[in-house]
Amino acid sequence: MRAWLKNAIRRKEPPAGSRPRTAKAYINAEIERLPRGGQGLFFSIDRCVQCIEKIPGILHPLEGFALFMLSMDAPTDNMIVEVGSYLGRSTSYLALGSLISRKKGIYAVDMFPKASDWFLGEDGLYHIRGSDYYLEESIFKERALFFYGDHAYSSTLEIFRDIVRKVGLDDLIVAFKGNSYQCARELKAPVRMAFIDGDHTYDGVKKDILALADMIVENGFMCFHDYSSSFPGVVQAVNEFVINSGRFADIYQVKGLLVARKMASRA
Ligand SMILES: C[S@@+](CC[C@H](N)C(=O)[O-])C[C@H]1O[C@@H](n2cnc3c(N)ncnc32)[C@H](O)[C@@H]1O
Repeated sequence: MRAWLKNAIRRKEPPAGSRPRTAKAYINAEIERLPRGGQGLFFSIDRCVQCIEKIPGILHPLEGFALFMLSMDAPTDNMIVEVGSYLGRSTSYLALGSLISRKKGIYAVDMFPKASDWFLGEDGLYHIRGSDYYLEESIFKERALFFYGDHAYSSTLEIFRDIVRKVGLDDLIVAFKGNSYQCARELKAPVRMAFIDGDHTYDGVKKDILALADMIVENGFMCFHDYSSSFPGVVQAVNEFVINSGRFADIYQVKGLLVARKMASRA
């Protein structure tokens, strides 16, 4: 296996044995409702961040905080589309921004795989049918036990739903099982922001950009996770179709999160 891929997967996974054995046990023991004061009108963001960080996920708190601020700042009251929601950590940061700014919520797009959606590829990695997303065997086995091991859940969609319900953000989140282009076909209105963190291959990110860039309002944001040398496909696609496209400006990075603002289209 290519060294960069091996390192990237290792870097992103929590150490095995550091949490309760199954998703059900974990949700019961660790996930709690976001604290609200003053009849639900006052939020301590520090305490909300502590709560959201309990959601298993692959996102640094600074990146999460940036998503929260962008969700509030993005123009218009349109929804946000997220591709690659996993168990809801990034989704919750975005939804918290929607809650406080009283804007519409999030389409959470993910393949939300069932156990049977995974298969062992010729490269020795586990893949989800219909995506090039991949996991090393040992990580796949640890996750399989956590996700499906107690038979309480048949897919990560149910785990995701239980988590966002327990943190109290379910009213703002619409889960969509599938990919970006299937979701784009169903969108009835433009979105104020798109956050891409799904299939990390060049082709996967390119498809996500081409499916969603036209759906973003003028001055809205397009953001990508894992814009780093660990994911050369992400970097290549973002460079080609965002940074060097002439369609985006005000581009900056917060750790692995790349943020770009969509400019007005030229007549
Ligand atoms: C790195 S995780 C996302 C982490 C998440 N944003 C967080 O805050 O923890 C990638 C997710 O993308 C999903 N995925 C992979 N390929 C996809 C695709 N083509 N379309 C939508 N989701 C995809 C996987 O099921 C997985 O849940």
